[in-house]
Amino acid sequence: MSARHFLSLMDCTPEELLSVIRRGVELKDLRQRGVLHEPLKGRVLGMVFEKASTRTRISFEAGMIQLGGQAIFLSPRDTQLGRGEPISDCAIVMSSMLDVVMIRTFAHSNLTEFAAHSRVPVINGLSDDLHPCQLLADMQTFLEHRGPIKGKTVAWIGDGNNMCNSYIEAAIQFDFQLRVACPEGYEPNAEFLAKAGGRVTIVRDPKAAVAGAHLVSTDVWTSMGQEEETARRLALFAPFQVNRALLDLAADDVLFMHCLPAHRGEEISLDLLDDPRSVAWDQAENRLHAQKALLEFLVAEGYQAP
Ligand code: CP
Ligand code: NVA
Repeated sequence: MSARHFLSLMDCTPEELLSVIRRGVELKDLRQRGVLHEPLKGRVLGMVFEKASTRTRISFEAGMIQLGGQAIFLSPRDTQLGRGEPISDCAIVMSSMLDVVMIRTFAHSNLTEFAAHSRVPVINGLSDDLHPCQLLADMQTFLEHRGPIKGKTVAWIGDGNNMCNSYIEAAIQFDFQLRVACPEGYEPNAEFLAKAGGRVTIVRDPKAAVAGAHLVSTDVWTSMGQEEETARRLALFAPFQVNRALLDLAADDVLFMHCLPAHRGEEISLDLLDDPRSVAWDQAENRLHAQKALLEFLVAEGYQAP
């Protein structure tokens, strides 16, 4: 199949990623000025959600409508996917009717299998391994507030989860240094670490990770699908809370990001989202603009797989 997919940041070149996030800045400006921009008139996005979502669903659905197209929300409860119809069969049928498909799922292999049988672009709306759309928004947010992230130092504090894996890929593609502070046994996927070489270091002390950092990011300690581990994780991750005192150790112009939803009092202190260094609300809004740029890139401009 020749469709261009976005399952990981590694599916694009660094130049393509930069041009998508720069386009996200332009599309944000167009929307703020009330300029209609509808390059996807008549196009339809199918959105398969096997996990809950606020930001991803709303940003893709609103984004598609703003670009002149439509989006269909597909819960596995209501489709044959949830009743065991093979992913490959669903991909063949769905991609014969839709122009682009977004999937939020558990195993990353569900995405790769769907994409292998899809005639249209498939976008990863979060898997157990990766959350690349969130990284587009994060990178757009950093660019808007501080300029290029190339050469900067980023600290990831907490679980070596899907967001952390995508930060590792971002470190490779956007060329920054990443320090990950996580408890032993909760490191990011070794395969991603191996790809990153010297760009990523693992430390145990959150203070060492944030020292002089230009961006500090964290996420929930218990991701969707890990709910039965919550109590153990709460105890183990307690020393990894990001709070104002920890941010004080970072660079003077540090930004704080959280992909949300946040658990105040757990991975962040109660007051952190109100701190002037936090850009979490801009980051959430930028899901809309960055993904509109991604949809334009994949659907309107119809970039083909190399
Ligand atoms: N950050 C993020 O993906 O949020 P949702 O789970 O609400 O989509
Ligand atoms: N790591 C979190 C991210 C939610 C947007 C999860 O997978 O639940």
